[in-house]
Parts: sequence; structure tokens; C-alpha cells
Amino acid sequence: QTVEWDADAAEKGGYEHYMRKEIHEQPHAVRQALSGRIDEFAGTVDLDLSLSDEYCKSIDEIQIIACGTSYYAGLYAAELLEQYADIRISVHIASEYEFRANRDPWRTLVIAVTQSGETADTLRALRKADGAGARTLAVTNTVGSTMAREADDTVYIRSGPEIGVAATKTFASQVITLALLTVYLGRQRNVLSSSEASTILNEVSEVPGAIQQVLDAESVVHETAKEFADSDAYFFIGRRFGYPVALEGALKLKEISYEHAEGFASGELKHGPLALVTENTPVLAILTEGTSADETLHNVKEVESRGAPAIGVSSETDPNPVFDTVFEVPKVGLMEPVVANVYLQLFAYHVASQKDRSIDKPRNLAKSVTVE
Ligand code: G6P
Repeated sequence: QTVEWDADAAEKGGYEHYMRKEIHEQPHAVRQALSGRIDEFAGTVDLDLSLSDEYCKSIDEIQIIACGTSYYAGLYAAELLEQYADIRISVHIASEYEFRANRDPWRTLVIAVTQSGETADTLRALRKADGAGARTLAVTNTVGSTMAREADDTVYIRSGPEIGVAATKTFASQVITLALLTVYLGRQRNVLSSSEASTILNEVSEVPGAIQQVLDAESVVHETAKEFADSDAYFFIGRRFGYPVALEGALKLKEISYEHAEGFASGELKHGPLALVTENTPVLAILTEGTSADETLHNVKEVESRGAPAIGVSSETDPNPVFDTVFEVPKVGLMEPVVANVYLQLFAYHVASQKDRSIDKPRNLAKSVTVE
């Protein structure tokens, strides 16, 4: 008797798609990103950077350059850096960076966030920053990649290979790695006390377990995706840390399901997008720590009064009954939105799966885009 075996199926480890496998690898990926880098009790982080203490103190601005999902990780990091490291920060879509002025390159740290380390738009932006005299740092998954080689410093996110074209686990690893960089800079700049740093590092180290709880609730997402798979469009809303997650949730859905999806800052809905809302456009709202949940709840009521179904992705212990469905997010402070994002990845996956899409290789898209 012979056993049927194929290398591709073996690589997927029992999952039908790499994307779902990679979504499920997130607890491990995040643990890898943390491994050996933090001392929770002392409130310290070691990323093996060559930045001098003096340089860290003198940084006047951080500019983040990135594309796609990495750009949204950059937006998340900007909120962290502003709050905990007290640094002026701007986040740039890499292909738009060349039109920006860099007024004080010597005191500007430019961080390229890139899974592949090869994205042409990000590389061009990195080279522009380098040419202007800024110090550069690559945050990447790929050892030996062009950006790892060209940047002054590199921090690896240690996700392991990501095969699915739509980025999943690398988003979580990027955010977590950038959270560590934030704590590092906050400590170096005497903005964070050791006990404040300990609290953040504690929350960060609870992320793998919190993501596991979300993964264990996948059947709820599957049911919800089935219920809404024939909608006209999907909207994602959030504030502050919830905003980049809303954008990323919409990007994931459009990439793999080919459905129309948009992410909005909750407060902007009333300034235009509300005209798109009907009873056939579900709205997914992020309501966790760091997302001004009460204000977003108000925006949810606005869409509900137009008949739209509302799905809450929430860490509130007593979620408001306005929601048709609630995806419960475990409490991990300002890391809750990155945990909430795992629900959005699963939602995109299950909607796409209902529609029988080519999930790992969506039409027209490439994992690494090496043309400008
Ligand atoms: C491509 C991929 C996206 C990715 C983006 C940036 O468009 O399809 O998933 O987010 O490139 O890639 P990078 O490797 O620079 O993070």
C-alpha cells in the first residue's frame, strides 16, 4: 500500500492555504521577535543596534517609509513612538517619499519597514534618505536582503518565511518589533521610566497568548464570514491605533476576496463615506484600548441607523448590544489592536474561501514588487 504525498501539501502542514497556516503561526512568530531581546523586570530592550546613546537623544524626527501592509505597521508604530519615545514622527508611502523635504537629515532617523527587504519603492526612498545624509534603519524579515545590506542598521522581525502573497504574520511581527524599538528609544531618551517600560514589555509578551485565544475563536469568524459573504462592500473603521488596523483589515479583504473594502478613520465617516453605507455594507469597528472606543461607538450608531450590519472587534468587557456580532479581543493594553487584526485576517480569509478565490496567489499581485 502506498501513501499519497505531495511536497506542497506537506509544506502547508495540513492547512489548505499558506495564508491560514501563517495566520496560525503568529503566536510563534511574535515569540521569535521577542526572544532574547527583552528584560521585562528591568524594563530594557536589546536590539543590537549601533546607534550611540548620544545619537538616540539627538534624534529630532523619525521618518518611516514603507508600502502596503508594512506602511500600516508603520502607522501603528508612529502612534507608539509618539506616545512612548516623544519623537516627532512622519510616515510616508515609500513611492511618495521623494517629493518630501528632509530639512534636518543629520538628526533624522529614517526607518524602512519591509517584509521582503526588496520592494523597489522602499529601496528608492531609503537610498534618497541615505543620499541626503540621514541615518537609516531597516526593519525586515529577510536576512541578507538589499535593504538589510544597505541600511546603517537592521532589526530582523524573525517571522520565518511568509509564502502567502497577502502579508499576515509579518504585520504582527513588524508591529511588535517596532514596539521594542519604541521602548528602546524611550529609555535611551529618558522618556520612559523602567517601570513604565516593564508595563509595556509585559503587555507585549502577552500578545502571543492573546493571539492564540483569537485563533481558538476562529469558528465564530467563519460563521460571520459565511453570513456576510454576499455583501456589496465592507467598511472597516477605527481611531488612533484602530485606524491602521482598519486600513489593514480592508486591504487584506480586497487583496484576497476581490471585494470592495475600505478602511476609514471612524471620525471621517460623516464627512463623505457615510453616503456609501447601506443595509448591504457590513461595518467592522475596532474598539479596544488605544482606539477611543466610545467615540467609535458613536460612529457605529450612525451606520446602524442607516441599516448597516455592525461587527464589533472589541475588548470591552460588556460590549454594547448595538453590534450584530462581537469578536472578543483579550486585554493587552496598547497591543490590543494588533491582536484585533488577527480577527480581520481570519474574516478576509473566510470570505475569500466562501468565494473560492486563489487565496495564496491573488490575481495581479506579487509577494515582492521589485519595479517602481
Ligand atoms: C507587495 C505585497 C504586500 C506588501 C507590499 C510591501 O505589494 O503584495 O503584501 O505589503 O508589497 O512589501 P514589503 O516586502 O516591502 O513589506
